[in-house]
Amino acid sequence: MHRLTVENVGLVYETSRGPLTALEGLDFRVGDGEFVSVLGPSGCGKSTLLKLASGLILPTAGSLTLDGERITGPRPDAGIVFQQPTLLPWRRVIDNVLVPIRAMGRNVRDYRDKAQALIELVGLAGFENHYPHELSGGMQQRVGIARGLVHDPAMLLMDEPFAALDAMTRETMMDEIQRIWARTRKSVLFITHSIPEAVYLSDRVLVMSPRPGRVIEEVAVDLPRPRTMATLDDRRFVALASHLRAQFRATEANP
Ligand SMILES: Nc1ncnc2c1ncn2[C@@H]1O[C@H](COP(=O)(O)OP(=O)(O)O)[C@@H](O)[C@H]1O
Ligand SMILES: [Mg+2]
Repeated sequence: MHRLTVENVGLVYETSRGPLTALEGLDFRVGDGEFVSVLGPSGCGKSTLLKLASGLILPTAGSLTLDGERITGPRPDAGIVFQQPTLLPWRRVIDNVLVPIRAMGRNVRDYRDKAQALIELVGLAGFENHYPHELSGGMQQRVGIARGLVHDPAMLLMDEPFAALDAMTRETMMDEIQRIWARTRKSVLFITHSIPEAVYLSDRVLVMSPRPGRVIEEVAVDLPRPRTMATLDDRRFVALASHLRAQFRATEANP
């Protein structure tokens, strides 16, 4: 079954300097429980794709569906993790995790245990009553991930969630995401700039062209799971990464 379908999608922004085509003929699917990464050069429309998949904006051509239903606005069956965690500074960790519940008008009390369990799942047990400024960048991003999962969405949409983190923290977060995915079995659409991150985490990697963005290459990653630091030295991992690097270089060289 396909969780997310993106069918021949186009998106034209109206700007003060005229129309700007961000996406054109974008077409792919994400299966149930599948982890799919999207890799593409800066400005190719990756964040635009995430906004479309989360129903924050609507396509100017084509259509997107989630669980067979056309996406016409924000939906409770999708969870979003942004590049910046954008936590509310005056709210404690647990209340930040519960923000989507409030936004959906659901009863916060019904979700306290769930929020607590997620805080533990992302490795923040004991920090539920801390405020965002008392946490490191990596810890704040973990809060953002717990918040994306709190309403138990079938699909998780992540836009370069580790981009603002240092290299060491990124590696730890990579393993965290793999662990959380293995535990929750969500379908994931993961946007990234990082080739090793994409290969390490994914079942499939999609490469986007420069703007207007569309999928120009699709690579299946059939490395055994769970992947570990040793995977990074696996011959197949290295071959896939270098293949993608060549693709990626080609797109950046011909904008
Ligand atoms: N709200 C907007 N209005 C006009 N142009 C936009 C808007 N958002 C993004 N763009 C433009 O669309 C293109 C794709 O942007 P974006 O999706 O953010 O790319 P990426 O995330 O891959 O870096 C860029 O040229 C960007 O300047
Ligand atoms: Mg972006």
